[in-house]
Amino acid sequence: MKLLLPALLLALSVHAVKREDFKECGQTSFCRRLRPLSTKSESTDFASPYSLGAPSRASASQIGVPAKDAAWSFPLSSTMYPDVAFELRVDILEGDIARVRVDEVGSVSPWRRYNETAKWALLNAEPAHGAAEITTKNSVTSIRYGQDLTLRINHAPLRIAMVRGGNEEIVFNDRGLFHMEHFRAKEMPVEEEVVETEGEEVKTEEGQVVEGAEIKTEPEDQQPFEATIDRSWFETEDGDMFEEQWKRWRDSKPKGPEAFSLDISFPFAKHVFGLPEHASPLSLPDTIGEGSYYTEPYRLWNVDIFEYVADSPMALYGAVPLLHAHSARGTVGVLNLVASETWVDVAHTKGVQTHWISESGIMDLLLLPGPNPTSLFEQYAALTGPAQMPPQFATAYHQCRWNYNTQGEVIEVQDRFEEADMPLDVTWLDIEYADEHRYFDWNKKMFPDPIAMINQVAKLGRKMVAIVDPHIKRTDSFRVYKDSLDLDILIKKADGNNFDGWCWPGSSVWVDFFNPKSWEWWTRMFSFDTWADQTKNLFVWNDMNEPSVFDGPEITMPKDNIHDGGWEHRDVHNINGMLFHNQTQHAISVREPTKKRPFVLSRAYFAGSHRFGAIWTGDNLGTWEHMAGEAAMFLSNSIAGMSFVGSDIGGFFGNPGDEMLVRWYQKGAFMPFMRAHAHIDTKRREPYLSEEPIRSYLRDALRLRYTLLPAWYNAFHDAATKGHPVIWPHYAKYPGDETGAAVDNQYYIGDSGLLFRPVVVEGATSADVYLAAGEPYYDYFSSRMFPARMKPRNVTIDTPLDKFPLLIEGGHIFPSRERVRRSSALMSNDPFTLTVALGRNQNAEGQLYLDDGETFAWESGAFVHRGLEFKDGKLRSAPKVSYDAGNAYAQSISNVGVERVRVLGLNKEPKSVTVAGEEVQFEWDKGAPSAKEPRAAVLTIKNPGVKVVDDWEIVIA
Ligand code: NOJ
Repeated sequence: MKLLLPALLLALSVHAVKREDFKECGQTSFCRRLRPLSTKSESTDFASPYSLGAPSRASASQIGVPAKDAAWSFPLSSTMYPDVAFELRVDILEGDIARVRVDEVGSVSPWRRYNETAKWALLNAEPAHGAAEITTKNSVTSIRYGQDLTLRINHAPLRIAMVRGGNEEIVFNDRGLFHMEHFRAKEMPVEEEVVETEGEEVKTEEGQVVEGAEIKTEPEDQQPFEATIDRSWFETEDGDMFEEQWKRWRDSKPKGPEAFSLDISFPFAKHVFGLPEHASPLSLPDTIGEGSYYTEPYRLWNVDIFEYVADSPMALYGAVPLLHAHSARGTVGVLNLVASETWVDVAHTKGVQTHWISESGIMDLLLLPGPNPTSLFEQYAALTGPAQMPPQFATAYHQCRWNYNTQGEVIEVQDRFEEADMPLDVTWLDIEYADEHRYFDWNKKMFPDPIAMINQVAKLGRKMVAIVDPHIKRTDSFRVYKDSLDLDILIKKADGNNFDGWCWPGSSVWVDFFNPKSWEWWTRMFSFDTWADQTKNLFVWNDMNEPSVFDGPEITMPKDNIHDGGWEHRDVHNINGMLFHNQTQHAISVREPTKKRPFVLSRAYFAGSHRFGAIWTGDNLGTWEHMAGEAAMFLSNSIAGMSFVGSDIGGFFGNPGDEMLVRWYQKGAFMPFMRAHAHIDTKRREPYLSEEPIRSYLRDALRLRYTLLPAWYNAFHDAATKGHPVIWPHYAKYPGDETGAAVDNQYYIGDSGLLFRPVVVEGATSADVYLAAGEPYYDYFSSRMFPARMKPRNVTIDTPLDKFPLLIEGGHIFPSRERVRRSSALMSNDPFTLTVALGRNQNAEGQLYLDDGETFAWESGAFVHRGLEFKDGKLRSAPKVSYDAGNAYAQSISNVGVERVRVLGLNKEPKSVTVAGEEVQFEWDKGAPSAKEPRAAVLTIKNPGVKVVDDWEIVIA
């Protein structure tokens, strides 16, 4: 009975998110004030009270760094508050990205709006300016830039459209919902507020060319802005502006109101995607309007949410304020760089309309022109940087649970994987390894010799990960706590004292990673001198970094806590977890004399976190519903840069039965980040524990992951160099296919042509897969062929428990390694198999990217990157990019060959296969091209005798 109780409690609690622990829009004052603007705007006479003065060069801009070229500043005011001055600044960045910022300027208030989100999210906070040309006529400023793009800026009322080919594609303030609450003194009535505005002189310089940017001012024919504004529309004051009580928490709000609202319309769009993290479909459903799918807006506010709902716009652990707007006509994007609590309404009216409401910060909007998903990925990467290239082991299988409690258990896991002939790369330790949850300090009773343990694991080519959370136990005997006090680097309360709250160790404090003084110190924490009980084979897991504070409002930190520079937690909350992740991965990368690629998993994230490592979707439930929703979550994260993503295989909560466990492992083998994990109260469920035939099915899934690791590595490399996602939703591969745009239960792996669809329905004996038009597809397991069609279509694949839909799209070549060993490191000198899936025209192409998998030497040319092409009956390998073929890494694998080439769909039987004039062996299976369920012809070339580092040609005649 004693043992049964936790399991019973767990079963009872499943499906039970405590909704009451988290706010709805109506329970947070700024959202309550500003969301109704959208309903008010439906009144026919509604108009924006905001208007712009004439532009001047941004050489004296108060927003960001003053700039001379391709940057302009406009005075902005509202007829509602004529004494309050705002500035609107437009920059045209490299990559044809338009940046529009708004801040309150010249205020007598002691407060400033938080303007550093870009500093943390963007690789260059002030990227280089591109060239653009500006003209102002009749109160409309046009900025022409890039290829056929114009930013059409209506001065009164304020409205900005990104126009391409005469069509408005992104419109800011289309509905007039832009409103920025100005700083004001609590007691002082608004009318009496005295705000000195500096003379906003129009500094246009007629016809003068300055470094590629030209301002042309036509004779002004400016109409005075006379829209009649109903004051009640924008008088959003309420009694909670200066302090707010929620349950037992009081938010002191010393700065008063500073929320802002803005609307963005995408007149051509049929879908919007992105805004992770939410457990919602990829194509974001409406949150507002009659019959809307959800009634609450999508919320961005990083929280530790217990047992989250599988289909909901509620906030989760991460936040990326990026949206793709899409239809077959094109794809554009917006990044709304704000780190405070943000709510976003979506409505599919007149294209797609979105309404964003944020609690604080400046408005910093980046308009990404696309015009297709691939260019959007590249534009987003140009801003935020490409993803981190993971160490090779991190792309393999990770085994975790809360907890492996002893050193002996860790070793036992290794042995059992060995016995079961199952590959494994990384064994994880959750919080119980640490003495009293004081991370870095091992519980020496349970782990008497951590170094010996890690070394024993490393002998098998494997690694370990230990958790290091951001909360620090408040006890003088803990050196980390002592140090943080001495250095005075802790997050403070509103009253200036160090903040303390409750987390795993009990009473805890949190380091302020916004404070540069903490960085060097944190790096030192991970040095071998400071943390002696580790080796280079131990990596790190940063959990609870939203941050999770058990006794805080919404299980996080009070908003009026104070960070470095005097900023409130409210301003920076969504960035907080990213800085912790950043500092930890930096610390790991510099432990050794030669910099190594770090691996750090984080739970919280923000725009830019992909530069620092992997994330996972937190505490999922072991239910079919959760399993089913996760593909969409992975995709939504992936298009927002967070490509190295996965979920807890098996479900964090619950005890999956055999069928679910198999389906979860099959799905897991196709998650970019493949880790099994389980709650402390769950039964043990390592794959070796299952009986046959389940055990074999689990082994198959694991082995398939290892077989396909080279294809995954290609995809990770594309993410690290081009900003492409590791997994691609259908709309991103086939943007012109209107009917498939919302497909989110299947995806492609990089450019391999591999199309995966998880089976997520209990008892399913078949599953449908949506195939694009134009190319044939081949079943990975059976070589069944789905001939090319003019139109996209669904096909049905049988899914007995050991099978699931895995197809290869014709026209692609992908590499694999078919000798699976106990860890991926042990496979690094194994030969390759190349699968050539021929397209409709008997052509195919692919790549093979390889490097040492652990250092940064690849960045300076130590890699092998082959372009593979099948054309006119010849398979060729040539350098994909130019590189020094004699580099050290290439030399180290000079003996690695191709042991097999498999060609699917060849339309006639070959007479010979030759390499450099020499015949090589092959097998020919003519398939069954005209059967009811056609099977592709398969040509298998054995040991063609070619090396991966060389240029070669295999001739099929
Ligand atoms: C919460 C994490 O989401 C979970 O994965 C972990 O096991 C627990 N914290 C304990 O560290």
